[in-house]
Amino acid sequence: MSFDGDRSRRDVLKAAVALGGASALTACLDRTADEPVPTGDPAAKPARQHAWREYVRHDEHGNSQLPAHQILLYVDFAGDGPPADDDRAALAATLDALDRAYAWRHEGLLHSVAYSPAYFGRFDESLPDGIDLPEPRALSPFESPAFDRQDAVLHLASDRADVVLEADRALRGERDAANGVSVPPLTDVATVDSRRTGFVGAGLPADHQDAAGIPASKPVPEASPLFMGFKAGFRGNQATESYVTIESGPFAGGTTKVIANLRQRLADWYEEQSHEERVMEMFSPGHAAEDLVEGVGSNLGSDSGIDRFVDDVAADARESGRVGHAQKAARANRDAEGNVRLLRRHFESTDDIGSEQPVASLHFPSLQRNVSEFEAVRRAMNGTDVTELTPAVRQRVNNGILEYIFVRRRGNFLVPPRRHRALPTPQPA
Ligand code: HEM
Repeated sequence: MSFDGDRSRRDVLKAAVALGGASALTACLDRTADEPVPTGDPAAKPARQHAWREYVRHDEHGNSQLPAHQILLYVDFAGDGPPADDDRAALAATLDALDRAYAWRHEGLLHSVAYSPAYFGRFDESLPDGIDLPEPRALSPFESPAFDRQDAVLHLASDRADVVLEADRALRGERDAANGVSVPPLTDVATVDSRRTGFVGAGLPADHQDAAGIPASKPVPEASPLFMGFKAGFRGNQATESYVTIESGPFAGGTTKVIANLRQRLADWYEEQSHEERVMEMFSPGHAAEDLVEGVGSNLGSDSGIDRFVDDVAADARESGRVGHAQKAARANRDAEGNVRLLRRHFESTDDIGSEQPVASLHFPSLQRNVSEFEAVRRAMNGTDVTELTPAVRQRVNNGILEYIFVRRRGNFLVPPRRHRALPTPQPA
């Protein structure tokens, strides 16, 4: 297989992650065989599974650049009671092998395993007081997602497609070793119910816009890390990893993770709206009036500047007939001291779960100390209150980006600290 340049290389690597096929893996390995992947030292791994910030790339403003290639493996363990000690030891050995195979870095592998309320329901004892992990539920009057109630989700992330793919195949028992390290397969103790793949970062969405939900005019800018044409995840609008970390009890050092999957339908977003209108709906009408967002918004630096416009929601609805997505969400995304509550780590996908057709979608993992914090922010983003102020803003019209995104699935999970990552009981010692 030959590579004509960055663009075709990206195409092949991303297609390979989605396919997971042996020939695709070979293509990846051929391409990068001359660039060794750093191996890992299990003793050097951070105590928090969600510790990514220090280990990923940053842009010139200090914003995190998430690993370009990611895979989510939703798995179920055998039976429906507490897992066996042998299975716990086997899963621990599998995760330890991954730790030896790859450095905990963006050019190695970041990985984590998180457990659902259904998993903890296998035990007689309950989670400690203070762990806020409800079953997933619909969070708006206009969505009816399928709920991901599998036992656990494994998240793999790397800037190298060949790395996530090789780790994924070793976990699924399709190869014996990863980066030269023998890996006992995850599939010895679990069944993979759903495998979801994605990508994020400038260039990748533009390269993969040939997907249902994106108009044929190929509107996604090359500079955009996301299909919707803007950058997200400014440092000032994200919770820190410490903030989202559970502070006390057996799960101290852990966090909660809500993962939604949203379908995107961007024809009207791109074809019926100007850049100015998109800025109004994504950020706020004030951002458009003051011309604050150039192109994909890199000029915003390390903060979207949304705090200045949060109190304008009602006035903007009446005067501009539109309100912004970030503006609405931010209303519930600060604590009493002004700290940001959620750490969003979303990435794009063209998976159509259960079919072969590429469909523009978004995998939306969000980390927070309590799942209720996510739920409050999501309700603020619904903007149902705003629809009562003016007929111009309806539940899904002129109401941020709700006209273009459709929640298909949602699951809630607990990410234990590394020391309890293998099949934890609800009250680990
Ligand atoms: C395709 C779907 C989505 C896209 C493209 C998107 C994009 C963006 C962008 C560009 C921003 C402004 C920059 C930033 O602060 O990161 C933003 C902010 C935000 N979004 Fe989204 N978003 C999407 C879905 C969601 C969903 C489902 C939630 C669920 C709660 C959400 C929650 C937030 C929050 C909390 C903020 C930050 C507001 C603040 O400053 O506090 N977004 N989003």
